[in-house]
Amino acid sequence: MHDPFRATQWTAVREGASQSMSYQTLAEELDALLRGETDPIANAANAAAAIYHSLPELNWAGFYFLRGRELVLGPFQGKPACVRIPLGTGVCGTAAAQRRSVMVADVQAFPGHIACDTASRSELVVPLLTKAGLTKAGVLGVLDLDSPLPGRFDAADQVGCEAIAAMLVRHLAPR
Ligand code: SME
Repeated sequence: MHDPFRATQWTAVREGASQSMSYQTLAEELDALLRGETDPIANAANAAAAIYHSLPELNWAGFYFLRGRELVLGPFQGKPACVRIPLGTGVCGTAAAQRRSVMVADVQAFPGHIACDTASRSELVVPLLTKAGLTKAGVLGVLDLDSPLPGRFDAADQVGCEAIAAMLVRHLAPR
C-alpha cells in the first residue's frame, strides 16, 4: 500500500534532474503507490492521476483498454474523451494494433487523429504489452498522453514512458 508519509508530491519530477533519472524516479514512486493494491481500475486511476500531475505540459493522461477489436476508455485525467476507438484507428488504435509507441509532434498532421480535446497539439501513445513480441492478445491497452504544446514529446519521453508502461502492466492486468 502507498505510504502516505512518503515525500512524493506528484509534481514536475523533471525539475532539477536529468529526464531519464526523473522517469526512473516516477516509475519507482508509481510502483510503490500501486504495489499494495490488486484492483486494476483503482490502480489505473491512481496511475493516471500521478502521471498527469508529474509530467509537465499535459492536458490529458490516461488509459484505453483493449476489449475485443476496440479500445475502450479507462481511467484518465483531463477533459472527457471519446469512449471507443477501433483497433488501427487514430493514434491510440495504431499504437495498439502495431504494438509500438506512436509519437506525434503535430496531431493535425496525423491522418485519422481523433480529436478529443481541441487543445491537444502533440501526443504520445505507448502500448501496454503483457508479453513483448507475442500476439495481439498480449496488448492490454495503451497509455495515452496529450499536450497542448506542439512537439512536446521526444525520444527520452518515449523511452521513459515505455519503462513506466512495462512496470504498470503488472498492476493493471486483471487477476
Ligand atoms: N487522440 C487520440 C484519441 C484519444 S484522446 O487523445 C484522449 C487518438 O487519435 O487515438
